[in-house]
Amino acid sequence: MEIIHDVAKMQARAETLRQEGRRIGFVPTMGYLHEGHLSLVRAARRENHIVAVSIFVNPAQFDRQEDLQSYPVDFEGDHAQVKAEGADLVFVPERQIIYPPGYATFVDVDRLTSRWEGAYRPGHFRGVTTVVTKLFNIVRPHRTYFGQKDYQQACIVERMVRDLDMDIEVVVLPTVREPDGLALSSRNVNLTPEERRQAPMLYQTLCWAAERIKGGEHNARVLEEGMQRMIHEGTTATIDYVALCHPETLEPLEQVAGPAVALLAVRFSKARLIDNLLINVH
Ligand code: PAJ
Repeated sequence: MEIIHDVAKMQARAETLRQEGRRIGFVPTMGYLHEGHLSLVRAARRENHIVAVSIFVNPAQFDRQEDLQSYPVDFEGDHAQVKAEGADLVFVPERQIIYPPGYATFVDVDRLTSRWEGAYRPGHFRGVTTVVTKLFNIVRPHRTYFGQKDYQQACIVERMVRDLDMDIEVVVLPTVREPDGLALSSRNVNLTPEERRQAPMLYQTLCWAAERIKGGEHNARVLEEGMQRMIHEGTTATIDYVALCHPETLEPLEQVAGPAVALLAVRFSKARLIDNLLINVH
């Protein structure tokens, strides 16, 4: 496995591989890797000749300095894990390589970015789409892998790739969870032991909504109120949003009469967590 820090070197490696007819699968990450990330690396390993993983804690997508500073880092652990999964290339740039002095260009996706995470984390998605575009230009993948865990992010990246005619296939894979249902996240380490005990309530809430919908409750407000009540009663978290939305436009629904996605975001004392569930109504 080769570790590359330099943009020109990564581009040259990618160019050579492409000329040899090798297909490059790419998993962008911010490191502190867990099974969620590794599920993407494994899929990339199965489906491509070459697997590239990037590890870059992207300052442009952090709306709060404290969150950036408390973001966990474990390069040694990450390195061992991606190596064990058979990755070929790891791109680990320094911040000033990605954003050198005078950096002035940003990629912005309209509409899909305005609600939910976009509303609570101003500038977050602009940071994501900008760095993902740069990483695509540097790693030059044929396919790229994203987790459903960050549902809105995956929708936005798919939109961007279509809108900007990027010749890349975006693969979105299911959320990997702890046995008790908590979605794996690098931020879970910032939960207190008591908050960790409460956190499975988020997934339980999503499953409860899915069950109620199957049972015939289609009124989104009634469902959202029920979900809010469960979170208030079962946790000490503060709710940013709980919403039933159209799975592609992410606009809030009045009636859940077709496919939907339940989205939520809550704040514990030192960790803000998001989760979601796709719901199919027949
Ligand atoms: P990061 O949070 O490190 O996540 C990297 C990828 O892993 C994302 O596609 C994310 O959705 C996926 N992922 C995280 N937790 C997961 C889980 N429990 N199950 C399945 N997939 C999971 O998302 C980012 O980094 C950044 O925004 C990035 C795209 C790298 C741009 O900086």
